[in-house]
Amino acid sequence: MKQADRIYYGGDYNPDQWDENTIAEDMRLFKKAGINLLTLPVFAWAKLEPDEGVYDFAWLDRIIDQIWANGIYVCLATPTTAQPAWLSTRYPEVLPVDIQGRKRTHGMRVFFCVNSLKYRERAAAIAEEFAKRYAHHPALAMWHVSNEYGTYCYCDNCQAKFRLWLRRRYGSVAGLNEKWHTSFWGRTVTSFEEVTLPTERNDDYRFNPAIQLDYMRFVTDSTAECFMNEYRVLKKYNPEIPVQTNMSGFIKKLDQFTLTKYMDVVGWDNYPWPHHPPYFVAMKHDIMRGLKGGQSFVLTEQSPNQQNWQPYNKLKRPGEVRMLSYQAMAHGADTCLFFQMRQSIAGQEKFHGAIISHAGHEHTRVFRESEQLGCELEQLGDVFIGARSPAKVAILMDWNSWWALEQSSGPSKDMDYLDALSRYYRPFHERSIPVDFVNPGADTDYSGYALVVAPMLYMTREGVAERLTEYVREGGRLVTTVMSGLVDENDRCVFGEYPGKLRDVLGVWVEEVDALRPDESNRIHLTGALPMKQESYGCNFLCDLLHTRGAEALAVYEEDFYAGMPCVTRNRFGKGEAYYVGTQPEHAFLTELMGLICVDAGISGLFPAEEGVEITRRVSEKGEVIFVLNHNRTGAAEVDFGASRLTDLLHGGTVTGKRQIAAQDVLICRTEA
Ligand code: GLA
Ligand code: ZN
Repeated sequence: MKQADRIYYGGDYNPDQWDENTIAEDMRLFKKAGINLLTLPVFAWAKLEPDEGVYDFAWLDRIIDQIWANGIYVCLATPTTAQPAWLSTRYPEVLPVDIQGRKRTHGMRVFFCVNSLKYRERAAAIAEEFAKRYAHHPALAMWHVSNEYGTYCYCDNCQAKFRLWLRRRYGSVAGLNEKWHTSFWGRTVTSFEEVTLPTERNDDYRFNPAIQLDYMRFVTDSTAECFMNEYRVLKKYNPEIPVQTNMSGFIKKLDQFTLTKYMDVVGWDNYPWPHHPPYFVAMKHDIMRGLKGGQSFVLTEQSPNQQNWQPYNKLKRPGEVRMLSYQAMAHGADTCLFFQMRQSIAGQEKFHGAIISHAGHEHTRVFRESEQLGCELEQLGDVFIGARSPAKVAILMDWNSWWALEQSSGPSKDMDYLDALSRYYRPFHERSIPVDFVNPGADTDYSGYALVVAPMLYMTREGVAERLTEYVREGGRLVTTVMSGLVDENDRCVFGEYPGKLRDVLGVWVEEVDALRPDESNRIHLTGALPMKQESYGCNFLCDLLHTRGAEALAVYEEDFYAGMPCVTRNRFGKGEAYYVGTQPEHAFLTELMGLICVDAGISGLFPAEEGVEITRRVSEKGEVIFVLNHNRTGAAEVDFGASRLTDLLHGGTVTGKRQIAAQDVLICRTEA
């Protein structure tokens, strides 16, 4: 597959909105800013196919040639996210039906039924026009299919297809009734035709969660088919060009492990909220890198400045975009792309930030910063393209489990899987310990990891618990928590004691789970088995009432009727050990505990550094690149490189020993051979 020889820098450009003079001026500005790739024409379906089967590509031919004449590559986007009005009008089946049963009207984007055969036919047809014309164009760096999939549709066609999907999955109605446990509340069906879509799920817990779970799987599969519908066409004309789609931020509603299975490369749009701490953003990048087993990814979009769709659209502070950009690359991005190049004159996103603002010239803070970044990226060349990020720690992440956990009625309404993951990710991030995110399966290979952490692994699909047990028996270390091991893939509780199939390896059994109100808390008291700084720490949210059965109690509750019962345990099992954290402890506890386990497992951070500094490493046959980011808004921070000798790739010179990094600054270096 075609490999990039530079960090692609640029992003969404919509020449269909601009006249020739503006486009010519844009070319000058792009070159000035070091832009080397433009993503287009994401929303131009109506212009390219003004009527069914009638194509007008002449303007796009011209613009692509013009872009290439200026030495800029293109990421060509099939424009299938926003179907033309004639398509919606002539074939209403392409328009979705929402969960309230309302047939939606034309006018939005990402607003089509992923199962509409007419939609798929027209999408494949225009993809074919693209492939025929441009698959061998020298400017073509990669394909971009559609834009931010994510429509849930409840039309009759989706209903019919869902029934077929269920038939394939369960074989018989009896099988379905059993797996969905429909005897609860007498929801038994006598034929697949009686299955309806989970429209009553909408905020009403009284709908069987198993149906919703399968519907989410079905929508994921249907969306993947929709992607593949175009992927196949594009590949047919030139298999060398990588194909991806930009996934919306970090979306819960599509299982991204499944969605990306057949993509050449993962693409994702990073729009952090102002209150998201750096570790939370870092975690999302790591999850995206985990989707294809550690393969580097395409940062398809981020904003060069403010958003328009947040309630309060804060400006990115000076230097902030540069930090966010390097953070993405530090965690596996090979590109630095933005939405958008030129701010649109009107429409829904006219106040969204852009490299070229409404002012129309280069004399702006944002343009100057983009230019500086462009210049730096050019200097970095291809030094980390395709590089991987070796890690000794794996955090398990499962979309199905996420869905099931958060839709479960009880024990608490405040289930937040990402929050749980981030609480366990943060201690590693603080110590610059690299982490991989892994989707647990029956044959997942954990042998490269010294530690596997499974926060709230509510659902253990077939073989998952067995595999983890095996890993510990062979000498691995496992940490898991409250709300783990409870259900199978149909959200049926694993019968017998909690936490289901994980109880042997953990050496505990959980008798009950207490859900605390937001204003309530408990404390956990250390038994003395661990050398912790404090005798006790706070905890809240959920408290397991558990019994040890072979495991040793590391901490017990201090309060309530279960005071004195264990809440944190360690079980030596085979050659390894398994920890269970039966509550949600405060950060101080978790970070110390993870620190101790890491010392024990021989896992250490990349380099010691002061608080607020993030350090990562990417490795390829070209060498090893170290990223150091000081996220502190004020004050330089020290990093100790010890005896290592590194070359500063942005400023030149050797880096060794102790080094100060200015606030909001980065250091990118390569280890000397
Ligand atoms: C998404 C879309 C873009 C744009 C940006 C900014 O990521 O893909 O087209 O709308 O958001 O809001
Ligand atoms: Zn539909």
